[in-house]
Amino acid sequence: MCGIVGYIGDRPVADILIDGLHQLEYRGYDSAGIAVKCEDKLHIYKAEGKLDNLSSVLMQHKSEYQNATMGIGHIRWATHGAPTVVNAHPHTCNCGNLAIVHNGIIENYKELREKLEKQGAIFRTQTDTETVAHLIAYKYAETKDLTKAVQLATKEIEGAYALCVIHNEEKDKIVATKRNAPLLVGIGEGEYFVASDVPAIIKYTKKAVYLEDNQIVTLTKNNIVLTDECGQELFLKIETLPWEPVALSKMGYKHFMLKEIHEQPDVIRNILVGKIHTSEEPIILNEVKLTNDTLKNLNRIQIIACGTSLHAAMIGKYIIENFCGIAVDVEASSEYIYRKNVTDSKTLVIGVSQSGETADTLTAIKQAKAKGSHILIITNRPDSAMAREADSLIPVSAGIEVSVAATKSYVAQLVSFYLLAMYMAEIKGSLDESVLTSLKSDLTKIPQKIEQMLSHKEQIQSCARLYANTKDFIYIARGINYPTALEGALKLKEISYINATGYPAGELKHGPIAMLDESMPVLSILMKGSVYEKLLSNSEEAKARNARMIALTNSKDEKLKDLFEYIIEVPDVQELLSPIIAIVPLQLIAYYIAEYLGKDVDQPRNLAKSVTVE
Ligand code: F6R
Repeated sequence: MCGIVGYIGDRPVADILIDGLHQLEYRGYDSAGIAVKCEDKLHIYKAEGKLDNLSSVLMQHKSEYQNATMGIGHIRWATHGAPTVVNAHPHTCNCGNLAIVHNGIIENYKELREKLEKQGAIFRTQTDTETVAHLIAYKYAETKDLTKAVQLATKEIEGAYALCVIHNEEKDKIVATKRNAPLLVGIGEGEYFVASDVPAIIKYTKKAVYLEDNQIVTLTKNNIVLTDECGQELFLKIETLPWEPVALSKMGYKHFMLKEIHEQPDVIRNILVGKIHTSEEPIILNEVKLTNDTLKNLNRIQIIACGTSLHAAMIGKYIIENFCGIAVDVEASSEYIYRKNVTDSKTLVIGVSQSGETADTLTAIKQAKAKGSHILIITNRPDSAMAREADSLIPVSAGIEVSVAATKSYVAQLVSFYLLAMYMAEIKGSLDESVLTSLKSDLTKIPQKIEQMLSHKEQIQSCARLYANTKDFIYIARGINYPTALEGALKLKEISYINATGYPAGELKHGPIAMLDESMPVLSILMKGSVYEKLLSNSEEAKARNARMIALTNSKDEKLKDLFEYIIEVPDVQELLSPIIAIVPLQLIAYYIAEYLGKDVDQPRNLAKSVTVE
């Protein structure tokens, strides 16, 4: 999704802005632009598509901006208006003296636009952001003070935003503010950085101030002033960023996605450190701040999430219900927020999000919090807005995930759910000791099994080649692996654009079976256990309609050879833990098909890493 970078100091600003925007590229975007101030003139450069296009534009104008040391930059993921140069940020007012970059959505932009047009503003774009440029410009004309102008303008804006503004008539100054969208200021020696996310600035400084909603920050080369929405000066809470300056390197892999798939064994090992000592000892999960009494008496849990995190949540439901005997509802955040839900102070609400910034989930969490629920957040970003709403916070510690398609963060979410479910089961005494011991012991063996699978990834690559030219793909499973089917299908459609769908296999005969013929690949996630025989029958039904059958299995059953034209073998694992193993080959199939088709694996079209609009 969109990304913001701003800089004021002594260094050549264009380089810093472009470099910072590159670090945010993984969020997904379709145009980019920067505005820099040089010799009392604002220069604005924009381009459609990737940052390389913007760099080419900049090359042609180097003499104009090479002495500039302050400016703002943006990558845009189009919401209002096509991804064109005109609609790319920064946007300006009529006189061109003001430039603004914006993440989020201005909900009342139509009303504002009508009002501003009556006052004489001439709009050149279809964006919601341009209204803010005109609005602040009008306020500036009244006040001749950029901070005050931003303060007054934000009182009239509804929606979510992170804004960064510069003005030609102001002595070098950047003003920034936010509401329901992330923004932080990096503090250097005689220089400041503004960014919508840490990677853009971590190379330069580890000292930062996270802006809270409605706060306004005014940056000059040697000063930072933070105020509230009324102009009252606030104390600066300077934090040390818990990040190492990571070079976002592919480490020899062709794509970040492939690298991140390979990181999964270590991700799991890291999560388990300090949580499971031996399989006989209780799970340690100090992150859960509910008392044992509350946990014992819980009778309802709601889990809210989107996309891949929603699939992790569905598996979370399965295991919490199985291990703890507590009823769990799972819901897409975007649905949760628009119905009359009956969340209350007795319900534990779990929010799951790799980015911790997803607007739908954040809004849902805030709604649940307002109703008095205990909020437990499972996220890969302990510094995120969602984490700040948490009563209990389980950081999944997968490390930065660059590829837009989530892989290692999903597996990390799954492992976190296993730990949580076992922890609660131990407190409630709801699961046999022997079952708990075997779960803990087997969970610690999973990283090695994934490594074993990855060392034979050629079989999956060959499978991917065989089916790469299909238009459609069906994934079937039952029980605990039904969400695995959904996630496998989501991975494939995201990065290869093949129409892939996951079904609970029992549902095939209620409609989807009509689609089956000799051109349709059907992948059956056939893990040994309670639903194995049933799924085998469903696979037979599909085969009888001539579908091209593929099995993903840990079974050595000889009869599978007659039923399936391709068998992907995975290491043996008990059914309850099988989703952690089964997803890995599905990630690889999606990866190899997309790579074979020459798709932009790490930055698929239309998608963003962090979806900060509802
Ligand atoms: C798919 C993917 C998305 C996200 C979804 C929610 O690979 O990454 O479906 O899972 O946009 O994002 P988070 O988890 O950041 O809340």
